[in-house]
Amino acid sequence: MKETQQIKSMFDRIVGRYDFLNHLLSFGQDFFWRKKMAEHAVNGGTTIVLDLATGTADSARALLKRGAKVVGVDISFEMLRTGNKKIKKKKRNAFFSAVVASGYRLPFRDECFDAVTCAFGIRNMHETESAVKEIYRVIKKGGRIVILEFSIPDGFFRKPYLLYLKKIVPFIASVFSVRSAYEYLGSSIEGFYKPREIIKLLENCSFRNIKAIPLSFRSVYLYVGKKNPL
Ligand SMILES: C[S@@+](CC[C@H](N)C(=O)[O-])C[C@H]1O[C@@H](n2cnc3c(N)ncnc32)[C@H](O)[C@@H]1O
Repeated sequence: MKETQQIKSMFDRIVGRYDFLNHLLSFGQDFFWRKKMAEHAVNGGTTIVLDLATGTADSARALLKRGAKVVGVDISFEMLRTGNKKIKKKKRNAFFSAVVASGYRLPFRDECFDAVTCAFGIRNMHETESAVKEIYRVIKKGGRIVILEFSIPDGFFRKPYLLYLKKIVPFIASVFSVRSAYEYLGSSIEGFYKPREIIKLLENCSFRNIKAIPLSFRSVYLYVGKKNPL
């Protein structure tokens, strides 16, 4: 798919400053968001988690800290390579396995993960329903999906947030990285499903007990759902 190839090359290009800009542009909130995601994905026992769109593995690291065994999947080899290096540098024997693959076609058998997480990745999969169905396939019965994704706040914060996202973020990015990638960030957030549409999508893909948890003035949502245990 041409679109997926373009996204892959964009992430390959911005990898060098990706983490730095994440922390800067989110005012350090990104650590808190991923920690919350990990708390919902891993709750006791041995948990084998597929972290889809794992990127430079900050999301995988949050899961490892909770004691999970993590398989990190991404289409960008450069992002994965950086992530894998970071993890192995901190903890040589961390249970982290990096796999280059697309979310549309996961190279795993049915029902082999206790949970699948996806932090800020699902928005890049434009055939979102196919990607969610593929996630459903690899989750064990009774297992969880945990998605972290940006959203545009309503009400008072909407205008200042849009100004920040569409003007200030691309400007800061032009100083440190590739401006167009961060313009894409803004337009992809605006064009993506609204929280209630994501809930509907998860329901349509057979997930149950779905919760949408707003974080940081509703600029980020955590979506949690369960695969039927029967
Ligand atoms: C914004 S980054 C998120 C990385 C990481 N999860 C985090 O929390 O920082 C999005 C990642 O999604 C990956 N990605 C985009 N489309 C994908 C696809 N179809 N399959 C797998 N990964 C994909 C990109 O390569 C990129 O590393």
